[in-house]
Amino acid sequence: MKKGIWVILMLAAVVIYVSGCDKKGATVKEPQDEETNLMNANKESFGKTPDGKQVFLYTLTNANGTRARIMDYGAILVSLEVPDKDGNVSDITLGYDTLDEYVKNNSPYLGATVGRYANRIGGAKFVLNGVEYKLAANDGNNHLHGGVKGFDKVVWKAEDLSADSDMAMVKLGYVSEDGEEGYPGNLACSVTYTLTKDDELKISYQAETDKTTIVNLTHHSYFNLAGQGTSDILSHELMLTADKYTPVDEGLIPTGEIRSVKDTPMDFTKPMAIGSRIEQVPGGYDHNYVLNSGDISMSLCAKVYEPTSGRVMEIYSVEPGIQFYSGNFLDGSITGKAGKVYQKHYGFCLETQHFPDSPNKPDFLSVVLNPGRKYTTETVHKFYTK
Ligand code: GLA
Repeated sequence: MKKGIWVILMLAAVVIYVSGCDKKGATVKEPQDEETNLMNANKESFGKTPDGKQVFLYTLTNANGTRARIMDYGAILVSLEVPDKDGNVSDITLGYDTLDEYVKNNSPYLGATVGRYANRIGGAKFVLNGVEYKLAANDGNNHLHGGVKGFDKVVWKAEDLSADSDMAMVKLGYVSEDGEEGYPGNLACSVTYTLTKDDELKISYQAETDKTTIVNLTHHSYFNLAGQGTSDILSHELMLTADKYTPVDEGLIPTGEIRSVKDTPMDFTKPMAIGSRIEQVPGGYDHNYVLNSGDISMSLCAKVYEPTSGRVMEIYSVEPGIQFYSGNFLDGSITGKAGKVYQKHYGFCLETQHFPDSPNKPDFLSVVLNPGRKYTTETVHKFYTK
């Protein structure tokens, strides 16, 4: 063969090799990719947990440039990029750039799926059918967000993706074993994230048990509609469709009372800047609001508007309550995505849920799940600008 032909063949081999290499930010094709249909959702490696479990990141995109990245560690929403009123896309949730930071930094549930029981259970115990169950006490004497190793700290399994849908979706499954963090029953659960063409991020949950147990799942993103890490959230205007809330004791456990918000700094029935009365709320907002809708139909729970970007987020849910947390425990000790430092009130959470400490409050709606029944719930975050 002539020398020239050899040169051409070798150049072609180099081009093929280089184009097959991983590029930073490009989708890394893993062998498992072939096993699942990843329509509208890209899958890439996001590193390994300290015990060697491979973690993947799924990117859901739509034609408006909205992009949600979800990883199977903690079923965590890693980022959510949405356009502002001028069409500029920014990431509006707090988080970390790397898996290592999520694992090692004891993340305050940034973007996490929280379970088996979101929020607090007083005294870290409850009685079910005459049996007392002791849970992990990880918030003083109380149980918070599923315990020491809650659903936010386990690797979920991507079970199914958007094969027959015109929407981008990823479904993550996890089986929480009988006795995990003190809860009874093997609980098989799933969380599905769907990004619609209309800039809605839907989060749907399902769970089934083989023994009577309690379940209360939620989503724990810290939002900043001006862009993550850019400022505090005190000038965001918030509206909650809640005439009442559940007052708490010093351990943030509801006292059992359901109190009107009327004529108090707790009142967000009309849009109000989050910071307008926060000084009058000791410690800041960290309260469960009793939604006017009850728990029967998908209804508007919250609307947030950020004036400089024009971004609006509406939250719809079938849940009876929503925890409004104004990022009071952020204190500048976290350096998050893109090197941004998260100061106090740099993000807010709106966690749709059943009320905190329901297992110990007979007057609150039940969180009990029996074998043979299916737990289902859904929350939708809708974004637009004005
Ligand atoms: C929830 C709780 C807060 C706090 C954060 C995590 O929203 O209500 O009190 O624990 O999670 O820091």
